[in-house]
Amino acid sequence: MTIKDLFKNPPLSKKINVKGWVKTFRANRFISLNDGSTIQNLQCVVDYENTDQAILSKINTGASIEIFGILVASQGKGQSVEIQAEKIIILGESDPDSYPIQPKKHSLEFLRENAHLRVRTNTFSSIFRIRSSISFAIHKYFKENGFVYVNTPIITGSDAEGAGEMFKVTTLNINKAEVEDNGSIDYSKDFFGKETNLTVSGQLEAENMAMGLGKVYTFGPTFRAENSNTSRHLAEFWMIEPEMAFYDLIDNMNLAEDFIKYVLKYVVEDCKDDLDFLNNRLINEDKNKPKQERHELTLIERLNFVVNNDFVRITYTEAYEILKNSKPNKKKKFKFPISEWGIDLQSEHERFLVEKHFKKPVIIYDYPSKIKAFYMRMNDDGKTVKAMDILFPGIGEIVGGSQREERLDVLKARIKELNIDEEELWWYLDLRKFGTVEHSGFGLGLERLILFATGMSNIRDVIPFPRTPKNAEF
Ligand code: 4AD
Ligand code: MG
Repeated sequence: MTIKDLFKNPPLSKKINVKGWVKTFRANRFISLNDGSTIQNLQCVVDYENTDQAILSKINTGASIEIFGILVASQGKGQSVEIQAEKIIILGESDPDSYPIQPKKHSLEFLRENAHLRVRTNTFSSIFRIRSSISFAIHKYFKENGFVYVNTPIITGSDAEGAGEMFKVTTLNINKAEVEDNGSIDYSKDFFGKETNLTVSGQLEAENMAMGLGKVYTFGPTFRAENSNTSRHLAEFWMIEPEMAFYDLIDNMNLAEDFIKYVLKYVVEDCKDDLDFLNNRLINEDKNKPKQERHELTLIERLNFVVNNDFVRITYTEAYEILKNSKPNKKKKFKFPISEWGIDLQSEHERFLVEKHFKKPVIIYDYPSKIKAFYMRMNDDGKTVKAMDILFPGIGEIVGGSQREERLDVLKARIKELNIDEEELWWYLDLRKFGTVEHSGFGLGLERLILFATGMSNIRDVIPFPRTPKNAEF
């Protein structure tokens, strides 16, 4: 039985058999066992007089064991049931002196270096169960709302975001690549006969699929070689990208808000034990912080707050005005002062809006076209596009989306203006030639949503094996 099932429906007085890893072994008598199915440990009472000394000496933190015994109501405090062990088998020994995960509090940095073992801690097993629950809720939401799940390619020839942050995919021998006279590499000799890279977004292909299936979504790994060593960026992250035919920007915002609320609500109900644990973890962490740095709401209160309240919606121009007239701007506290209309908003600005000014999630829309990608629909003013970003407290941008430019001539003009190779995008332009329709979509960064759901503050702690600049261990 898994420990989770056992607590749910305790087979009292029955002979049972459990397997797991030893968390602690106290007084040669009490084993705290965990099997990953739940944050709760099962207490196992050892009959030490009748247990072989050779076995007792191997019940160490980190060892894997199998226990046969009888489940009884617990006499001690802290647990409802416990198992009285009749037989213990050591499955895998663990050297107590060299096992890195000691039964004490470790720093997150230390655990990151031991990412292969950190899943055995309460914090990380909770995070990864929550990650799984969120992923399931995402599929469930789209299934219930008539979306078709599509898989877009991981190897691609296009740079959807036009940011040039791509990892190259090649089978050329980079030490002696075919070099042309002008010094560039001859990719016609490469595996695909052209230059290819790992995808930065499945959007362009998702748009294709939506132009026949109506409402689709992708959910897959995404790669960006941006050299930003922040607590919000990964070189490999997971993105959910819905794309909907016949949706305008307002429909798009409504969907994104409804979707995020649904997923968070699902997690609050599905992951009670894990969230309680992380909630207390943060309360304890806050106690050691100066007052002004403490959270006003607990983790669970923050999740419920987002689920139960409307997101603020403002245009870029409104956001710009608020920021320009804000105290930190006037007192020159921003690293990037708010100057001309049209500047890109930095994370300090986004965080001021959500954390200080509105104190709730904010959707900013109608951004200047100059700071957004080529595919976004131009507004009638000729200088803003139908883009929208959703900003979350403590995180900043969590969603980026837009209504797409469905007019062939306007799109072609934009492509030209940005010096993008039109021929590379022939298939994307075809969509605008044959039955073009208004359509919209967005991308949600899975890890950023998990950061919010778990209250963790570094994105490296919500993906099992993070890839960041100079780091691809495991
Ligand atoms: O805003 P982005 O770049 O939008 C797109 O890629 C669009 N093609 C999406 C679409 O309309 N279909 O990225 C979307 C989201 C961001 O809001 C952020 O949450 C996440 O992806 N993201 C990252 N997460 C972790 N590490 C990174 N390096 C990220 N870059 C973007
Ligand atoms: Mg973005």
